[in-house]
Amino acid sequence: MQLTETQRQRYWQAVEFAGRQVAATIDRTPDYFPIYTSAGKWFHQGELWTDWTGGFFAGQMWLFHRHTGDPAWARQAEHYSRLLEHRQHDRNVHDLGFIFLNTYLPWYELTGDPRLHDVIVQAGRTLAMRFQERGQYLRSFVAPESLFIDIMMNVPLIALVARETGDDNLLRIALAHSLTTRDTIVRADGSTAHEGIFDLETGRFLRQSTHQGLAAESAWARGLAWSLYGFSSMYRYTGRAELLEVAERNAAYWLAHLPADHVPYWDFDADLSRPHPWGPQKDSSAGAIAASGLMNLAQQTASPERAQAYRATALAMLDALVAPEYLADQTPGWEGILMHGVYHTAKNLGVDESVMWGDFFLVEGLVKALAAEREAAST
Ligand code: GLY
Repeated sequence: MQLTETQRQRYWQAVEFAGRQVAATIDRTPDYFPIYTSAGKWFHQGELWTDWTGGFFAGQMWLFHRHTGDPAWARQAEHYSRLLEHRQHDRNVHDLGFIFLNTYLPWYELTGDPRLHDVIVQAGRTLAMRFQERGQYLRSFVAPESLFIDIMMNVPLIALVARETGDDNLLRIALAHSLTTRDTIVRADGSTAHEGIFDLETGRFLRQSTHQGLAAESAWARGLAWSLYGFSSMYRYTGRAELLEVAERNAAYWLAHLPADHVPYWDFDADLSRPHPWGPQKDSSAGAIAASGLMNLAQQTASPERAQAYRATALAMLDALVAPEYLADQTPGWEGILMHGVYHTAKNLGVDESVMWGDFFLVEGLVKALAAEREAAST
């Protein structure tokens, strides 16, 4: 990946700033896993809705270690990862991929320690227990009849564990969930609904729905980013072409609808004439997730033209997100890294704030772009 000198410098500065922000959060509130800021401050007693983001805080520490090679970051990352270990048995959330793919997986890849492998395998098996045979999907945390698009970011954990253990039943579950998602809440134009609702008696799909988007039939931006990235990860672990096709369909919608400033509104169907928070609110976190996902997809697509378009869009989004309007490095007192994210508009949680996954995926995208350039230069 070819970066300009300006990009190289700005991306390095942004990662260094991110490291300083995370270190300051650790100092201020040791062993605390922030989720979203309130007026720019992490520590508060606000509602969580669900506890799903610990892996992004610890995961940033693994990314800083990968980027700098500094063993102090590895020690910090190990400590924070260990605090999440008990979640391998957590049957209350559908988010074990978010937690373990960003913590125990990089830790295991670094060390090869079989005890870490055991934790990953257990987490994958726990997640698979959410599978509804009637309907062929992993249920969301809200109800047995509910499937969320976000689960596409978590189901790759099951596919990974299936590959590692040779467990065909886990592979069956991971593929079935992905194909049910494709057939029910990914639309022909590549946009996605947040949620699918099923009849528990028959397993029949009933309707599309939403919690965090504008409407059942709208394209909630972060959900689309989860889908793009998640189907691309499923392709990575299974090699199944029909899963790559979905990620590329999501990408086509993303590229066709992204605003000219390269940062999405929180919902692609948001009515920009409506007042805050329903109108022209950006969700920088959706941009960060999609930028990182498009970089993965650029490596996977069979089309050189699309690979070029994915890379160019990913870098344009990163450029926008490291500008002072979005990166908090010129906003004194702000404790997050990436500003102007959204957690939950309808509940008015973390609207126009930093959100932990926005910070994580921005750092992941930047570290990946810088590493890819270094690798290209050394071959
Ligand atoms: N719960 C996943 C999200 O807010 O995107």
